Amino acid sequence: MGLRTYIRENFILDIKPYKPKHLSRPEKMLEIVSAWKGLELIIEDIINQFDLKKDRCIEFGVEFGYSSVVFSNYFKSVTGVDTFEGDEHTINKSEHFAETSAQLAVYPNIELIKSDYKDWIAQDNSRYNLAHVDIVHNYEETYECGLWAAKHSDCTIFHDTESFPAVRQAVKDLAKATGQKLYNYPQHFGLGILVNQ
Ligand SMILES: C[S@@+](CC[C@H](N)C(=O)[O-])C[C@H]1O[C@@H](n2cnc3c(N)ncnc32)[C@H](O)[C@@H]1O
Repeated sequence: MGLRTYIRENFILDIKPYKPKHLSRPEKMLEIVSAWKGLELIIEDIINQFDLKKDRCIEFGVEFGYSSVVFSNYFKSVTGVDTFEGDEHTINKSEHFAETSAQLAVYPNIELIKSDYKDWIAQDNSRYNLAHVDIVHNYEETYECGLWAAKHSDCTIFHDTESFPAVRQAVKDLAKATGQKLYNYPQHFGLGILVNQ
């Protein structure tokens, strides 16, 4: 790689920082341990800054539902897709679909689907206002799931852009491939934001 390309790739094309205007705490929250904690404060701000409609949200990577419940405060419907079996990066690796479904049953606008994202995206051709990708933090899976999400939503957010270089790289490549605008919020392990506008 030449010096010019190196500078272009690593500085000029690097991610624009996301600057929230207002932090707001959603009313409904799960009091559980999650690496996502803290990001709930900027979800309403993202919706407002990018003028997103609040009808449909899809999330890939629910685990115990921390982020799903955050989204349920703002969107009429939240679809949460997860194998509920954990992955190579999660601490919990035991099956927990029934347990999580029971815990989230009090939130009627959340629908949980036990599925690999690959099977889900092969048959869903509908559109969402917001998509969240927080699955296994490898390049290939993040890119594949993220590409579908970017093509089927107005805004796609990706957790762990700071803690997993593979996620950050996938998100940067997705911005190039789709032409969408890319921002990064560096706190709470990083949230990449791709916007279709
Ligand atoms: C980091 S956790 C999600 C954390 C969650 N967003 C929260 O708020 O706490 C990652 C989840 O992705 C799920 N996952 C990993 N690979 C997946 C795949 N191929 N399809 C569907 N879900 C997957 C795991 O089962 C795990 O529950």
